[in-house]
Amino acid sequence: MKNRKGIILAGGSGTRLYPLTLALSKQLMPVYDKPMIYYPISALMMAGIREVLIITTPRDSQSFQDLLGDGSKWGMRFEYMIQENPNGLAEAFILGEDFIGEDNVALILGDNLFYGENLQRILTKANSDEDHSTIFGYTVKDPERYGVVEMDEEGNAISIVEKPEHPRTNLAVPGLYFYTNDVVEIAKNVQPSERGELEITSVNEEYMKRKQLKVVKLGRGMAWFDTGTHDALIETAQFVQTIEKRQGLLICSPDEIAYDNGWIRKSDLRELALPLKKTEYGKSLLALSEGEI
Ligand code: G1P
Repeated sequence: MKNRKGIILAGGSGTRLYPLTLALSKQLMPVYDKPMIYYPISALMMAGIREVLIITTPRDSQSFQDLLGDGSKWGMRFEYMIQENPNGLAEAFILGEDFIGEDNVALILGDNLFYGENLQRILTKANSDEDHSTIFGYTVKDPERYGVVEMDEEGNAISIVEKPEHPRTNLAVPGLYFYTNDVVEIAKNVQPSERGELEITSVNEEYMKRKQLKVVKLGRGMAWFDTGTHDALIETAQFVQTIEKRQGLLICSPDEIAYDNGWIRKSDLRELALPLKKTEYGKSLLALSEGEI
């Protein structure tokens, strides 16, 4: 199977979270018990992706490296790159060209959280499709805030529009995209939009024209949040708190997923958990390393 690398886009100026983000990256903000970037890292890990490029602003790069290191603690490999200006999501593939090399790639936005019973199956399936690119569709009340997709019965995208005034469907496109290697070439040919950005929707349009874009609908019971506003940040945190407290299970813990995936041993998990043992998060990991969950 062709290898797939991951890119997390954690740049941007986070203006919708001002003044919180005047001095600190949005993707380092807490979402209940963990930093925001743990959630997209977890999604890539659930898909089975171990090599990840983390793209940040110049200001915050060092903080991400202090938090995450080279990825080896989770049996992964992290590289870092800087996006000087917020030129749009599609720039990730231009910046990441050397990192991507000959491989396929998944991009996830650093403020997106996915959670649900079938998620791992859905993500590993998208990861293993080498011939198509895959995006997702998620029913929302306010599709005009997002990229909006229309699909046929076979799961092919038939229209996709960025923030349409009159959406044709209620299916928003979440910030998680699985692309074939030609995305680098496609991104290089994207023209800036009216807001001056290299839009990910333009990349998706090109795949759609080539009849290579699959849409997987995320159904009821699946949670998708983007945490880029004050309300979204607290609502998402409350969601995580509610489920974790009720079930005693963690949502999007890279430590736990690394262990589940067999990328680290029980003893490694214990080492990771010990410094966190004053928290419920750390206690859950310790219990897991002792085989109690
Ligand atoms: C971006 C994309 C949009 C997508 C959204 C998901 O929007 O342009 O297509 O639906 O992320 O979070 P932005 O958050 O940059 O406005």
